[in-house]
Amino acid sequence: MGAQTNVPRTADPLVRTQANGANRRDRLSALTRFARSGSLAVRANAPGNEEKWMSAKDSYVRTIKAAFERSTFGDWQKEEDVRVYEDFAVEDVLALDLAPWPRLGANACFLNLYPLMEGVRSMYVAEIPPGKALEPERHLYEKLVFILEGQGTTEVWQEGESQKHVFEWGRGTVFAPPLNTWHRMYNLSSKPAKLLCATSAPQMMNGFRDADFIFNCPFSFRGRFNGEESFFTQHNERFLTSALQSALSVWETNLINDAFTAELDADLTKAEAGGLTVFEMAGNALVGHISEWPVGRYHKAHFHRADAVLLGLRSEGYVLLWPSELGGHPYENGYSDEVVEVRWGFGSIYAPPGGWYHQHFNTGKEPARHIAMRSGSRIGPGFSPLSREHGDPNWIPTLASVSQGGTLINFEDEDPEIRRRYQEALKLNRVKCQMPEASYERGAAKAWNAPR
Ligand SMILES: [Fe+2]
Repeated sequence: MGAQTNVPRTADPLVRTQANGANRRDRLSALTRFARSGSLAVRANAPGNEEKWMSAKDSYVRTIKAAFERSTFGDWQKEEDVRVYEDFAVEDVLALDLAPWPRLGANACFLNLYPLMEGVRSMYVAEIPPGKALEPERHLYEKLVFILEGQGTTEVWQEGESQKHVFEWGRGTVFAPPLNTWHRMYNLSSKPAKLLCATSAPQMMNGFRDADFIFNCPFSFRGRFNGEESFFTQHNERFLTSALQSALSVWETNLINDAFTAELDADLTKAEAGGLTVFEMAGNALVGHISEWPVGRYHKAHFHRADAVLLGLRSEGYVLLWPSELGGHPYENGYSDEVVEVRWGFGSIYAPPGGWYHQHFNTGKEPARHIAMRSGSRIGPGFSPLSREHGDPNWIPTLASVSQGGTLINFEDEDPEIRRRYQEALKLNRVKCQMPEASYERGAAKAWNAPR
C-alpha cells in the first residue's frame, strides 16, 4: 500500500471480528452475495473460532494484484525494472520520487493504481532534465500526454520518413502521439519538465503477449496520421452527441494548449451548473474529458467499468468510492466502513474500480476542475465491445438513473448521509453549501430532464 511516499487518507482496512444486530445480518447477507459472485472472500470460523470477514476493499486489492501478477503487462513492467507506486490513488504526483527508466532515458515512476491493474490502462510520470530529451520511441499502444510542468517540444515522424513534425508544449498541454509513430520529447527550458502519461499498453500487451511486437512493428497507421501540417495544433471543432439535455460536447482536437484554462461547455448531468467537454485525439479510443463544477457543489454518484483516471487540476475535495453491490445507500445500510474516501487537490490522481460508485466533492474555495483520461470514443471504440452507446447517442448509462436501467444516482435518491457529510466538510473549510434544495426533492431529476 502506498509503496512509495504518499499514502492517501482512505477508510481503515476492514477485518470485522464483531458485528451485531441488524447490521451484522445485513453485512453477512451482502458479503455472501459477494462471495457467490466471486468478488469478495468470506472467511468464517477463522482460527480462534471468531467470524472474520474481509472487506470488499481488501478483497478487491488482493485479487486484482494477483491477476496483474499473472499478466504479460505485469511481467513486462517487472522486466523494465522501473520504480512503481501502488495504491488506490496518488495524493500528489509531483511529489513522487522517480528513478531511472532506461527505455525512456529519464527518471520515471509507474502509477499502479489498483483500478488500472484491472488491465485496460497504465500510467507513469516522467521527468526530462533541463535541456535534455527523452529517447525516441514508438509503440502499438495509444498514449495521452499531460504536461504537469515545464516547456518543450515534441518531434513526431512516421517510420522511414525524414520529415519531422514539431510542436511546442507547456504546463497543461495535452496531446497524443498518433498510434505507432516515432516521437521524441525535448525540454527546452532551464527547469525540469514533468509529464504524466496514460496508455493502453496493458490491453495491447495482454492481447498480443509479445513486447517485441509492441515496440518493433514498422506499420504506419496512415488513416490516423498522414503528415497533415496542422495536425498538432489546437482545433476548435466541437459537436454534440445528441439533441437531448444529456448531450455531451465533444471536442475534436489533436492538441489542447492548456487544460487549466480550456473553455468548457455547459453540462448539467452530474453536477448542477457544471461544465464538461469530452476531447478526442489522434483517432484514438483513449480519449478524455475536462470537467468543472462550482464552489460548494458535488457530483452525482455513478459507476462503470474500470477505465478512467482523473487528475485534479484546481481546488480540492474528496472522492467517495464503494462497490455498487452494496447499493446506493452505503451509510444507511451499515456499510460506512466499506466506503473508500480519497482526498484530492491539484496533482492528485485517482481511478474508480470497475463497478464501484464514485462521487466527486468540491470542498475548496474555487471551482473544481479535473481532467479524465479514459476510453469511450464516439469515433473509435477500440477494443471495447460495441454497445447501445455507440449506436444510440441518447443512451449513455452513466447519465441515466439506476431506476431507468442506468448507473447514476440522482440527488433525490442518494444516501442522506452523503449530503450531511458534505455539509460538515464545507463547514470545516468555511465554504457555503451551494447545492440547490430542490435537487433533493422527489421528481427533481425527472423535471430537469423533461423537454422544455
Ligand atoms: Fe466515472
